[in-house]
Amino acid sequence: MKKTLLASVLIGLGLTAVHAHAADNELNLYSARHYQTDEALYQDFTKQTGIKINRIEAKEDELLERIRNEGANSPADVFITVDASRLAKADELGIFAPVKSKVLEERIPAHLRTDNWFSYSTRARLIVYNKETVKPEQVQTYASLASPELKGKVCTRSGSHPYNISLGAALINHEGAEKTEKWARDLVANFARTPKGGDTDQIKAVAAGECGVAIANSYYLARLMNSTKEEDKAVVAKVGAVWPNQKTWGTHINISGAGMLKHAPNKAAAVKFLEYLASDSAQKYFADGNNEWPVVKTVKVTNPALDALGDFKADALPVGDLAKTAAEAQRIYDRAGFR
Ligand SMILES: [Fe+2]
Repeated sequence: MKKTLLASVLIGLGLTAVHAHAADNELNLYSARHYQTDEALYQDFTKQTGIKINRIEAKEDELLERIRNEGANSPADVFITVDASRLAKADELGIFAPVKSKVLEERIPAHLRTDNWFSYSTRARLIVYNKETVKPEQVQTYASLASPELKGKVCTRSGSHPYNISLGAALINHEGAEKTEKWARDLVANFARTPKGGDTDQIKAVAAGECGVAIANSYYLARLMNSTKEEDKAVVAKVGAVWPNQKTWGTHINISGAGMLKHAPNKAAAVKFLEYLASDSAQKYFADGNNEWPVVKTVKVTNPALDALGDFKADALPVGDLAKTAAEAQRIYDRAGFR
C-alpha cells in the first residue's frame, strides 16, 4: 500500500525512472563471479560510499545475453567476471564504455588493463605433477607437456574452456601459431583420458595416479592447500607444482576483471566502484577471497598457500592482447582434437 502511494507521488513528480535507473546512490552490478567473500567486499563499498549495490548473479553467457537484450534500457552499470578472453569477448560485443581514471591508471599495471575493462586479481596456470611418477625437471615448460616421455600421463579440462583457450592464445603470441598447433596435437596424443571435469578434478586425478601431470589454475591448488579437510590434505601431499616457463616468457596468467557498461544509468557510481576495487582493502578481499594475487603491487596479502607457492615470473603480455589470438587458439584446438 505504502509502495503504491510512494510510486504515485513519484509519478506525480515526474520521477518515474527511478527504479533501476539514475539513482545516484545505487549501483547495478552484473556478476559472473560467485565467491562468498565478494559479499563482504560489496558491503564495504556501501559503507564507504553510501552507494547500495543491486547484484545480479548469473553465468557469464546469460548475463551477456541479458545485457544485449536489454540494450539501451539495461540497468547494468558494471559487468564483472573472470578470464581475459571472456572480458575481451564482452568488449567485442560493444557493451563497455571507456573509463578514464587516474586512480586506475596509477594502481593497475598497464599490461593488466585496457581502455574498457580492468583486471583486479591475477591467477596463474600452473603444472601439477604426481611426485611418485613424474619428476619436476620433466615439466618445467608448457611445451614439455607435449613431449613423448609424458605419453598417457597428461590430464586437463576441456580445450574449449576459456582458461585453456587463453593459455593457447598466450602460446600463439609467444611461440607462433604453427608451434602452438604442433604442441596441441602432441598434447592430445599424451592425454591419459578424454578431457573432463574442472581443474580441481585434474589435481585430484593426479594425486590418485590416474594422471601423472595436469594443468590447473593456481587458486584451485591453493584452495586445496588451505583446506582443513583430510581428503584435501591427502591430495596435496601427493602432488608437486611447477611455475612453467620461468626461463623464457614466464607463467601464463589470467585475471578477474570488470568494466563499466555503455548504457550504465549510474556512471559516476560505476567509476567509483571500479576505483574502489583497486583500493587496498578491496584488493585484499577481491584477490585473497579466491586465493588470487592483487594487481596492485603495493598490496600484500597473507595467505598460507600463496606464501608457500612463493614468487614466480609471470607472463608480461598485455591481457588485452590475449583476446586477439583467442579465436585462433580455439580453431587450432579444434583441428588438433583438443576438445
Ligand atoms: Fe575457475
